[in-house]
Amino acid sequence: MGGEWPSGFFREAFLFVEFDLMVDKITVPAIRNKKRTGEKITALTAYDYCFARILDQAGIDILLVGDSLACVIQGQDSTLPVTLEEMIYHTRAVVRGRKQALVVADMPFLSYQVNVEEAKRNAGRLLQEGGAEAVKLEGGVGVVKTIEAIVKMGVPVMGHVGLTPQSIHQFGGYKIQGREKEQWDAIMADALAVEAGGAFSVVLEGIPAELAGEITAGLQIPTIGIGAGVKCDGQILVIHDILGLFDKFAPKFVKRYAEIGTAVSEAAKHFIAEVQAGTFPDEEHSFR
Ligand code: KIV
Repeated sequence: MGGEWPSGFFREAFLFVEFDLMVDKITVPAIRNKKRTGEKITALTAYDYCFARILDQAGIDILLVGDSLACVIQGQDSTLPVTLEEMIYHTRAVVRGRKQALVVADMPFLSYQVNVEEAKRNAGRLLQEGGAEAVKLEGGVGVVKTIEAIVKMGVPVMGHVGLTPQSIHQFGGYKIQGREKEQWDAIMADALAVEAGGAFSVVLEGIPAELAGEITAGLQIPTIGIGAGVKCDGQILVIHDILGLFDKFAPKFVKRYAEIGTAVSEAAKHFIAEVQAGTFPDEEHSFR
């Protein structure tokens, strides 16, 4: 009997328990379905085990291992230097911390632009080695073939259009896109291309709220906005921004929900003062 698949009642009980444990898992179809039901999608970035665990337990739908880690974790000036190996490393840590949220990993610069074959292999590595459940890549009309090929492999893709940070040098900085109405058609075309390529959702970054509303109404797949107004199907922000942990630049669309940077500084000053005064460790924190 050892090692055999349980049969009859026990087998059904086992499957039921397993299904029950998985019932709240956020999946790609569940994210798509939220557009149909009108339930807003919530997403935050995460780059490590502790934050992933806290955000997952708080009930977030999507954890994005964003290439923004180049800035908020590594201290780089843009997202361009982060490598695929580094993305895989951080994705693994995030996956260990989450139970329910969908984990999406960013495809870093140069991991999908060179050719479709490389893009397929690199997307696959983020799932196989990182444990992600989907990948995100930037661009619209220009990357539709790449999105198609990755989706064909069975890897879900989240698109990203508007202010795409991997193109900052082309934009001349982090500039809102679509300020002129003549640019709207091109941004709409990018979003439609992402959908036609088979992506399950699309991030709209740094575009006027009215344009984001039009794109959201025109697509079957959900839009997730960052600096794109309230009409998107969901919202995403960088966790370090909303916690007051990163103040190198503070975009208008970022709302600070906590001041953790100040709390960390206060705690560190308190520790320093107690160590210098010889009052830490006290009896309570020492062994007899
Ligand atoms: O890298 C990132 O954090 C992103 C965002 C959409 C927040 O791409």
